[in-house]
Amino acid sequence: MSKFSLVYFLLWILFQILVEVNCQSPPFKPSVSYFHTATLLDNKLYILGGRDSSDNLVEKEFFFLDVSIPFNTQSLLWQDLSSINTLPPHNAAASVKDNTKNDTLFLYGGVTSDQTMALVYTFNSSWSIPNIAGVNPIRKNSLTGIDHDGKIYLWGGASYDGTFKNDMLILDTINLSWGTGSSVNAPTPRDLYGATLLPNNNIVYLGGINDVTATFSQDLIIDKGNALTLNEVYIYNTINDSWSTQITSGNIPSNRAGFSTVLGLDGNRMIIYGGIFNNPPGYIDATLYVLDLTNFNWYVPKITGNIPKTRAYHKANVIGKYMVISFGKGYDKSVESDVLLLDISNNEEYIWTTTFELSVPNNTISKPNSSSSQLSNNNSTLTRIIAIVGSLFGSILLSFGSFLL
Ligand SMILES: *[C@@H]1O[C@H](CO)[C@@H](O)[C@H](O)[C@H]1NC(C)=O
Ligand SMILES: *[C@@H]1O[C@H](CO)[C@@H](O)[C@H](O)[C@H]1NC(C)=O
Ligand SMILES: *[C@@H]1O[C@H](CO)[C@@H](O)[C@H](O)[C@H]1NC(C)=O
Ligand SMILES: *[C@@H]1O[C@H](CO)[C@@H](O)[C@H](O)[C@H]1NC(C)=O
Ligand SMILES: *[C@@H]1O[C@H](CO)[C@@H](O)[C@H](O)[C@H]1NC(C)=O
Ligand SMILES: *[C@@H]1O[C@H](CO)[C@@H](O)[C@H](O)[C@H]1NC(C)=O
Repeated sequence: MSKFSLVYFLLWILFQILVEVNCQSPPFKPSVSYFHTATLLDNKLYILGGRDSSDNLVEKEFFFLDVSIPFNTQSLLWQDLSSINTLPPHNAAASVKDNTKNDTLFLYGGVTSDQTMALVYTFNSSWSIPNIAGVNPIRKNSLTGIDHDGKIYLWGGASYDGTFKNDMLILDTINLSWGTGSSVNAPTPRDLYGATLLPNNNIVYLGGINDVTATFSQDLIIDKGNALTLNEVYIYNTINDSWSTQITSGNIPSNRAGFSTVLGLDGNRMIIYGGIFNNPPGYIDATLYVLDLTNFNWYVPKITGNIPKTRAYHKANVIGKYMVISFGKGYDKSVESDVLLLDISNNEEYIWTTTFELSVPNNTISKPNSSSSQLSNNNSTLTRIIAIVGSLFGSILLSFGSFLL
């Protein structure tokens, strides 16, 4: 092989790579900013509804991110499903995956100006309106749905006229009927609170807001009005339908609303992120706090990596070893990714990262016999590109080797 043919060969390879990459349709660019729903179903993170950066309801947007393959938050390959979205524009709905069959997304409530919007929709491969027995409840918004053992718990939130609620609405997803839970000792009415299901069948509720006059600055600091305290949390026992209150201690976050909460991977702690928050004199917000569920002590965890701008009205899902934060108010879309990744696999040190890797449990890691056998059982676009680049790189090395010889 002469030097020239090697150069041509390399150019040809570059050309092939460019052709392969360009053949992909351009990635979908979402306009949604906040008050959307983010639901993990069958290794896809579905995003629906919400408002754009100009505070208008997004019209038809519905899309997902495939999380069965690695990705980088700097180049997200959103897949557009807007053409199959039959729902009216809305925001601040509650959305959960049913946890009995794990194949259906339930969407409840939300704010809409379209009177034809149903109270509940389901999605598996298409949207439908389920027939639900029992007394038809009111439409609530700005609440969190918790799915547990065939029931979706829809506590609190606000009604369309701006009244704050503290009723426990329960949707049975197996026989499709409405029910209610206890309001005895329930927290005071509020919306935009945090809620997380614990391994012991309890749901922890905390924070939120009940002040319609509250406003906040660009930095998400509440400059008028007040959010609710996090120095106590409210526990709903799904087994015996009862409420209790737990006083918290330690490094208690300031009053806040519109933050996200997830359960730590060990089930012993709750991680909260962002939100609009009160800024009392001398207070320095840490944005990310952890509540130790064994003693209800708050602490600020050690975090490394590039600290992103804080967000409110976003969503957070635990996917693999990551807390995956999607969209929100407070960041510049042209500078930061719509998705933030916090690696929460090590409680001694959480890490902000931009690369999503598939987490494989230790005991199933085995040395692959050959790299090609590993790649062949995944036909996704990204892996295909990697495979092509990889094999081409292999052939470059081979030809380069023979060239040297
Ligand atoms: C649904 O997922 C949960 C965990 O997310 C699992 O415990 C349960 O077995 C799954 N159910 C089915 C029917 O796959
Ligand atoms: C999806 O929903 C439709 C309508 O509710 C139902 O007929 C179908 O069986 C569901 N598919 C799956 C995979 O559950
Ligand atoms: C549905 O199940 C609940 C219990 O989970 C029960 O109270 C209710 O009566 C059932 N409704 C129907 C219509 O079968
Ligand atoms: C519900 O169960 C919890 C935990 O087992 C218990 O502490 C509580 O007293 C029970 N509440 C009622 C009303 O039975
Ligand atoms: C997985 O490996 C890490 C270190 O490589 C170890 O600290 C951890 O305990 C292991 N986890 C399990 C479940 O074996
Ligand atoms: C890898 O090789 C071992 C023996 O060398 C064999 O038993 C095993 O089935 C192979 N695994 C795969 C995925 O080919």
